[in-house]
Amino acid sequence: MRISVIGCGYLGAVHAACMAKLGHDVVGIDVDPRKVELLEAGEAPFYEPGLPELLAEVRATGRLRFTTDMSQASAADVHFLCVGTPQVHGEFRADLTYVESAFAELSPHLKPGDVVAGKSTVPVGTAEALAARLEGTGAVLVWNPEFLREGFAVKDTLHPDRLVYGLPTDDDGEPTPVGVAAREVLDEVYATPLADRTPLVVTDYATAQLVKVAANSFLATKISFINAMAELCEATGADVTRLADAIGYDARIGRRFLNAGLGFGGGCLPKDIRAFMARAGELGVSDALSFLREVDSINMRRRVRMVDLAREVCHGSIVGRRVAVLGASFKPDSDDVRDSPALSIAAQMQLQGAHVTVTDPQGIVNARAKWPDLRFAETALEAAEDADVVLLATEWAEYRALEPDKLGEVVAHRRILDGRNVLDPRAWRAAGWTYRALGRP
Ligand code: UDX
Repeated sequence: MRISVIGCGYLGAVHAACMAKLGHDVVGIDVDPRKVELLEAGEAPFYEPGLPELLAEVRATGRLRFTTDMSQASAADVHFLCVGTPQVHGEFRADLTYVESAFAELSPHLKPGDVVAGKSTVPVGTAEALAARLEGTGAVLVWNPEFLREGFAVKDTLHPDRLVYGLPTDDDGEPTPVGVAAREVLDEVYATPLADRTPLVVTDYATAQLVKVAANSFLATKISFINAMAELCEATGADVTRLADAIGYDARIGRRFLNAGLGFGGGCLPKDIRAFMARAGELGVSDALSFLREVDSINMRRRVRMVDLAREVCHGSIVGRRVAVLGASFKPDSDDVRDSPALSIAAQMQLQGAHVTVTDPQGIVNARAKWPDLRFAETALEAAEDADVVLLATEWAEYRALEPDKLGEVVAHRRILDGRNVLDPRAWRAAGWTYRALGRP
């Protein structure tokens, strides 16, 4: 198939490379010349394990190129919309500017029979509005949400848990003839994962758009649920990690996404649940999602609690104290610092008078761009030099593997806060550290 991918951020760059890997002829289009230049040189514009190798592999086949020129989309028959939908500053709703402009720029290059596949996370109703604008062009819109996780983006795209197609439907909810034709095109695009028995859900526009935000809301709720239990554990002396193990053995609950700690961040979960609440309000059903407000509050409270814990171990004040923060990205194996709990806590402590040094294996460049006033160090040992307290904020493998005695040699005081509940309290305490964590005695 000949494919264009509009928007080459985390989603689009990975999608373009994976489509080429599946054997398609792909052009990635982005308005940012720097991004296009890097991708054309075979370099990933962000850190994503496996992506540089994949880019090198598929670019060698000649099946993948990148450009800023939208007219190059005219050679393709399938067009994936992969632009971002960030949170509007100071509001909950999603900013659809990029979706709007990408769609407007793509439209003149469409021909009859073309399939436009929306992948961006959008407020339900967006697909219907875009589809109406394609009427008379002979091109058809499908909604095909993406569920990739940063850090596993290549694997998640090549071997997804499921595929979802939202097709145009008639009054009985059945796909229209153009919908059926579009489905056949998508089946060809995803022939390899479908042959691997990837589950496929074929549905209408509204359901397809809702699937994505419903999935992210469920994941966010699961994390906030266990973090709420952590608050109870803190009040009772219970251990939230053992609690999660025990309830997680129930197959109906499951242990995944039950890791208590600093909570969720990143470019998806926080803004998606807020945009979902905003959309529910517009639809007159805000009560249905009022629990997401709690999910958001529980999540944000963890950050405040961690600063309090730092104050507690420093005998009541962090003013003038040296704090080493291990981790800046919102999760390991990513350089993404958008809504990162680690960075937000580091900045809070700095604002409250602590001397904060942040380190991260991949996220420092992005972190510095966001908070230039923080100090940054290349390694955990460097960051922890003379520290009064060390905070493990993002659970990179190298921080989980830190040796208590080795780190103990450089710090001023052996005090560690385990923001992700990944260290062994016994080992750290045995080495003379004051070990504190969220939801653990
Ligand atoms: C998420 C969804 O998982 C993905 O399906 C969707 O397409 C985009 O949003 P991502 O943002 O890459 O993906 O990260 P994810 O791995 O889901 O983690 C989100 C946040 O939750 C991270 O900050 C992580 O540290 C936190 N988290 C995750 C927890 O605090 N506890 C857990 O048990 C799991």
